[in-house]
Amino acid sequence: MSEYILEMKDICKSFPGVKALDHVSLQLKPGHVHSLMGENGAGKSTLMKCLFGIYKKDEGTVIYDGEEVTITDPFDALQKGIAMVHQELMPIRDRSIAENIYCGRYPVKKFGPIEVIDHKKMNDDAQALLDDLGLDFKATVKLGTLTASQMQLVEIAKAVSANAKIIILDEPTSSLTLKEVDKLFEIIKRLTAKGCGVIYISHKMDEILQISDEVTIMRDGQYIGTWSASELTTDFIIAKEVGRELKDLYPPKINTPGEVIFEVKDFDSVLDNSFKDCSFSVRKGEIYGVAGLVGAQRTELMEAIYGLRGITSGAVFYDGQQLKIKKPEDAINNGIALITEDRRARGIFGVLSVSDNVAVATLNDYLIFKTILDHKKIKEVVDKSISELSIKTPSPKAQIKNLSGGNQQKVIISRWLAKEPEVLIMDEPTRGIDVGAKYEIYSIIGRLASEGKTIIVVSSEMPELIGICDRIMVMCEGRITGVVEGEDMNQEKIMELSTAFRN
Ligand SMILES: Nc1ncnc2c1ncn2[C@@H]1O[C@H](COP(=O)(O)OP(=O)(O)OP(=O)(O)O)[C@@H](O)[C@H]1O
Ligand SMILES: [Mg+2]
Repeated sequence: MSEYILEMKDICKSFPGVKALDHVSLQLKPGHVHSLMGENGAGKSTLMKCLFGIYKKDEGTVIYDGEEVTITDPFDALQKGIAMVHQELMPIRDRSIAENIYCGRYPVKKFGPIEVIDHKKMNDDAQALLDDLGLDFKATVKLGTLTASQMQLVEIAKAVSANAKIIILDEPTSSLTLKEVDKLFEIIKRLTAKGCGVIYISHKMDEILQISDEVTIMRDGQYIGTWSASELTTDFIIAKEVGRELKDLYPPKINTPGEVIFEVKDFDSVLDNSFKDCSFSVRKGEIYGVAGLVGAQRTELMEAIYGLRGITSGAVFYDGQQLKIKKPEDAINNGIALITEDRRARGIFGVLSVSDNVAVATLNDYLIFKTILDHKKIKEVVDKSISELSIKTPSPKAQIKNLSGGNQQKVIISRWLAKEPEVLIMDEPTRGIDVGAKYEIYSIIGRLASEGKTIIVVSSEMPELIGICDRIMVMCEGRITGVVEGEDMNQEKIMELSTAFRN
């Protein structure tokens, strides 16, 4: 018997214009966590989709539990004991948690020849599963009432319920809170203790080093190598992913903040459990960070400023003038743009091309005589975006839905960068984005600020905020608990302010 539960050997897969996998191999031991790393578009999700039967591999062999297998579709994979939590979740929002967990394999009751869904058993089983995993949800509530991170946990519960021998987690923590990540790691430990093998994809180095037994690194569809996690360092992983030494994670600072130009005064949300008394001011050419733990209401406050949410009181000033912002369009017309945290769900026009997705927010800027679209100009802007953020796409005409998760994000970011707003609010701008491209995004933020634009960056990654911001405002439970700069811009101080009202 082999020591591996799974061996993928020399897997190849091409899409029109892209060789997504070029002889990639992966070996997973039972009870181990094997992480898969690589830049956006390296082929990680594609390799897993080949295993899970979503894509048909062109070449290569898969040996599972000692036998060579052909997995025809996800249903077949599940039956064989392989479960996957996808990078792009596809929750059915108006169905209950239980129905989402047992979707496609509902328990049935027989009345003679007639079979009906056994709702009671389904709900009871789902509740037992949730309780067992320590997830504090009622199985009968609609999935749509949960937050993105809670839905992600339900998706993980669903994979666990399949009693699989292999569980694939494709960026499972992208929207989880720190506490939820701990919960997930507990779940992973329980699974591996039972002999289940876990394949884990993430761009978060500290998670990878904490949870993995082995790490395989890919680059441009190629297999680079496999290492035991205990012998790895962050620098080594980055060098292997990028293919060269990346000396600094943050570009040198080139902006010099001027006078205060953007002011938010006395923002109170309509909902009493949300933010209150929020006032802050940002200078021209400043990179202003917004830190806090999940639940601090940072996103809610930014959405309110942008006109996406109602407020009971509050005013926004630009250069001393009060702006009337009732809806996002008003914000955009006043030179304010918001890149949302939930880009995949809200920002992407899946069947449209990469080019259309970049240009959609700026179409008015490309009109000749206010009627005809200047395609040449659009092409210039789009080509520039693709090269600046190294967006990996076979062509600007490719449908965005065929890009890797991280590359879709880059497209949405370049859409707003192309607009060159005076005030740019970015909510978690580097979530799901690889190290090399993060550096590019920081450089662009720095350049925009040096040109006198005002940038507000909401991020849960403290090192990132400390690395790029001039000042950092900290929120806790919907209140602003402090603004730090200089020496005070350190993790301890920010953490202290982030938990000011928590015990
Ligand atoms: N259905 C598809 N049609 C065409 N090209 C595809 C398709 N799926 C993936 N690709 C291409 O294959 C390559 C690998 O993509 P993949 O999604 O596997 O990357 P990834 O390593 O998961 O990246 P990320 O970290 O951004 O999620 C990319 O160039 C992508 O554009
Ligand atoms: Mg992916």
